[in-house]
Amino acid sequence: MRILYLGDIVGEQTIRVLKDHLEEIKKEHHIHLVFCNAENTTKGKGLSFKHYKELKSLGISAMTLGNHAFSKSEIREFIDDATIARPANFPKASGKEILYVQFNRQTIAIVNLLGRIFLNLSLDCPFATMERLLKQIHADKVIVDFHGEATSEKKAFFYHFAGQVDAILGTHTHIQTADEQVENNTCYITDMGMCGPKDSVLGLDTEKIIERFQTGVYEPVSVAEGKIYQLNGVILDLDQKNHIERFTAEYTL
Ligand SMILES: [Fe+2]
Ligand SMILES: [Fe+2]
Repeated sequence: MRILYLGDIVGEQTIRVLKDHLEEIKKEHHIHLVFCNAENTTKGKGLSFKHYKELKSLGISAMTLGNHAFSKSEIREFIDDATIARPANFPKASGKEILYVQFNRQTIAIVNLLGRIFLNLSLDCPFATMERLLKQIHADKVIVDFHGEATSEKKAFFYHFAGQVDAILGTHTHIQTADEQVENNTCYITDMGMCGPKDSVLGLDTEKIIERFQTGVYEPVSVAEGKIYQLNGVILDLDQKNHIERFTAEYTL
């Protein structure tokens, strides 16, 4: 099966870009399933019910989150019934630790974990959490979205679990890395990148972010407004022999 997994969706305009282009992307790349990280969809932080429904209506059948998982408090009202895997190493939270998706009589398990380096959250160990979940998972394929800042933590996680899952895909930095590889049939990339306005700092308003760096004063920053949108992610071929390739595209809104 061929899966397009999109990196962090930033801002609702990106949903418009997906509305216009996702079908043609699926056709061109012979994609069966589309998954995404949706943690920045609503105003750059979190996911509203409205935007969850819109992503679903585009045929995105599984979503993962990150440090902004609960930034929009309304998610607590729908996450239990949604096709969303929440970061499993939050010590206590609503939502699914393992999300199961069915395709062609195959079951895919999706797990979302948060790294602990530089994120300043009270989290359980992602390694121990994954060991615990592996004992519970019953699936033909297992995909992990590892949402973390530190490249070392993601890479260490990959080498520890290579051979035990089908893909370990990094998110959170919003910058796509060029290190995709397969080890022991486990696909890996340190970061899939983001889907959002190209002329931005990680999807956010450039001038405001520069100001924040120069002044040290924390002011709320909004999603950048731009005409050019980038879509970053990976295409996974999960069969007997798993394969990963980077995906990038650019569109003018
Ligand atoms: Fe993000
Ligand atoms: Fe994040």
